[in-house]
Formats: sequence, structure tokens, C-alpha cells
Amino acid sequence: MTSKPAFLTEPYSAYEHTMVRAEDPEITRVGPGTPCGEYLRRFWQPICLTKELTDLPLAIKIMGEDLVVFRDFRGQIGCLELHCAHRGTSLEYGLVSEEGIRCCYHGWLFDTDGKILDTPGEPQDSTLKDRLCQGAYPTHEYKGLVFAYMGPAEFKPPFPIYDSYNWPGTRIVASHREYNDCNWLQVKENCMDPVHLSFLHTRTAGTQFTDEFGILAELDFIDTPVGMSYIATRRVDDNIWLRMVEFIRPNIHQFGANLENGRVEHPRQPPIMCQWAVPIDDVQTVKFSYRIIPDGMDDIPAVVDFGQVNDRPYEERQRIPGDYDALAGQRDITVHDLEHLATSDVGVILLRNFLRKEIRELLEGEEPARAPVDENGYTRTNANDTVMRIPAAATEPEDIKLMRETGRKMAEEYVANPPSLPKLPD
Ligand code: FES
Ligand SMILES: [Fe+2]
Repeated sequence: MTSKPAFLTEPYSAYEHTMVRAEDPEITRVGPGTPCGEYLRRFWQPICLTKELTDLPLAIKIMGEDLVVFRDFRGQIGCLELHCAHRGTSLEYGLVSEEGIRCCYHGWLFDTDGKILDTPGEPQDSTLKDRLCQGAYPTHEYKGLVFAYMGPAEFKPPFPIYDSYNWPGTRIVASHREYNDCNWLQVKENCMDPVHLSFLHTRTAGTQFTDEFGILAELDFIDTPVGMSYIATRRVDDNIWLRMVEFIRPNIHQFGANLENGRVEHPRQPPIMCQWAVPIDDVQTVKFSYRIIPDGMDDIPAVVDFGQVNDRPYEERQRIPGDYDALAGQRDITVHDLEHLATSDVGVILLRNFLRKEIRELLEGEEPARAPVDENGYTRTNANDTVMRIPAAATEPEDIKLMRETGRKMAEEYVANPPSLPKLPD
């Protein structure tokens, strides 16, 4: 298919679109060897929940790769290629063992690092097991999630500990999986699109969080040491409500309370969610999250889950669509050549530019920036909601200026001077 300009200027001209099918593979395709796939593989990615590891192996697909995850009787977690190195039987039918996993077909035993420990059907003097390995990826278990590093061994980064994992007055709990039937980038772009909060979640499909999300925000953006953040400031009576939602490279977002309404003054509040959009393949994505729960609460407000997955009847989704519907509705992979990005899409444009730049740099041999770690062991992040009593300026243009300046100043201050946290134990 060829691309051609998609800006239709005449009525009844859909035919002019029929040959446009460019999907922007550079920042959407995630399989092995693709530029974006290689980029995402340079980072630890969540692959399952700890509680999903039982006495049975767990078959998963991540970035187009079929894998099996299991915890052996020693407690070690393995993430191996799904298909046995011998003749390809799926290890989802294997026996989780004292050490590693044993293939059901001819009994080969694989350690969690892929070493072959036993080939019971082979002659005693066979050296095959000492020469061959099953494909394996390193894993790291942290607070209810299992992560894997699927990139080249020599570029394996340290496992980052974001400050939101240990914010005073909160605890983190690994959340359930959420599936999106679309490319991973759409899921990320949704988080860089604060304008949809005022429409999809408030004006066009009824209030899904709070009415105040329907107030159009003044928008700004700021680079942060881990990625970038949008700065949304809203006027709520005599208050200015500042909301920062941060993108953390390569596929994480942290965002604040969806029950915020900007009516009660409060200092910086930490995010309620740290969320990854992990590609299953090019057209399916699974979100893994830590929910960041304030002390004294059992969970974060249930509204955050509204419309996130395909769990409602079609008619209801048509009448009250949620994020799942909006994203899957963009096609399985959005055709960028058919979009008409507008002023309100600055966040989407910035995110695409950010990813494209880093993906191209990696292609040229420059490794992505590592998460900076402070003297206490944390990687500092910036998502928050803050409500300040600052009465409106005399005129609307002056008030817009006041909101923008306030938002910018606070955001710069937060990025430059993160609050101190207790040192992480060694
Ligand atoms: S196919 Fe796995 S041991 Fe033969
Ligand atoms: Fe949303």
C-alpha cells in the first residue's frame, strides 16, 4: 500500500483514503529485531503476577515471544522460551520440579537460567546437555510482580526502584491484568492525552471520575529525568488544581487520584498508580500496575477500573464508552497517516517524538538513558495532584496566564527538589 495525503477537502471522498495504510512501524512494531521491539527490550518489563505462579507452568506471550514462567520448588523463578529445545513441545505441559522445569515429552530438565540439567533418554556419556541451553531470560520478583529482562545480556540495567514504591503513608499492591486489544502505543498515548479526560470521561460519556475533570485544563509539558510529564492546571472556584501525569521510559505512566475534584486545598499527593503497557504482540497489550494505596484505605477508588477492559455488554459500551473502547476503536494499530493531529494532541506528538528519537539513537548504537538513582536508592518521579488556594485573576486571559505560570513553577520545583524519603534498606 502506498501512503498519500489524507487531508480530504471534498465531501463524499472516502475513496481517496482507501490506499492509505501506513502504520508507523518504527514506533509500533515490537517483535524481535524491530527497532521499537529492541528499544523496549532494553528495560525490565513486568510479565506476570507473582500469585499467578502456582504448581503449574504459566504460558505467556510478551512482545511476540512465546514464553513459560514458573517457580520451582527452591523458589527460583524461570522465564524460558515456551518451546522445548529438544523437539519443541510446549513447556506449559511441563513438570515444575525441584530445580527448574521438566519437559513432558522426553523428560529433559531445564534450570531457571536455561541450563539443561538432565536428558534422561540420552546415553550416559552424552555431552549434549553441557553444550546446549534452553532460551531463558533473567527475572526479578518485586512486590507481587515478576519482571523479565529480554534484551542483550551485556546491556541489562539495574532494576529501578521508583520513589512511588515507598512513598510515606502508602503501600503498593500489584493489581490485576488489564487487556487492551490494540497496539501498545495507543495505550501510552492515551495517558499523554489529558484532553480526553474532559470529554470521554466527563462530557461525552457521562461523569466517570469527577465532574471537575470536565473543566478544560491549561496544558503544559515538562521534561523530567525519567521521561516527561504533562502539567494540567484547572480553575476550580478559588483554587488552582495542578495535575501532573508522568511518562517514564519506555512504557510506564504514573497518575494521580481519579476522585480528585480540586475543591479542597492539599499539598502534593503521590500518584495512585504505576502502570506498564506491555505489548503481547503488535495488536494486543497487557497492563500491569502497582496500585499505590494510602494508609487506612483497602484499595484505591474503584472508579479507576471503569471501562479499562472489555468486560461490559456491547450496547452498554456504545452508550457509555470507556478507555478500552476508545483505544480499540482506533483500529488494532492506529494508522498515523489517516490522523489529523490538532493543537490538543501536543502530548501525543511529544511522546512519539521522544520514542522515535530514542529508538533511532539505539539503532545508531546509543543505549537508552538509565533511570537516575539518588543517594537513598530511589529513582525520583513526579506525578502528583496539588490543590492551592489562589483566587482567580481579574480577567480570563490574566487567569489563564496565572494558571499556566503557577503550574509551570510548581512542576519545575517538584522536578528540581523532590521531597526527601527514608533511605532504602541495603
Ligand atoms: S520435546 Fe521436550 S524433551 Fe523432547
Ligand atoms: Fe482515560
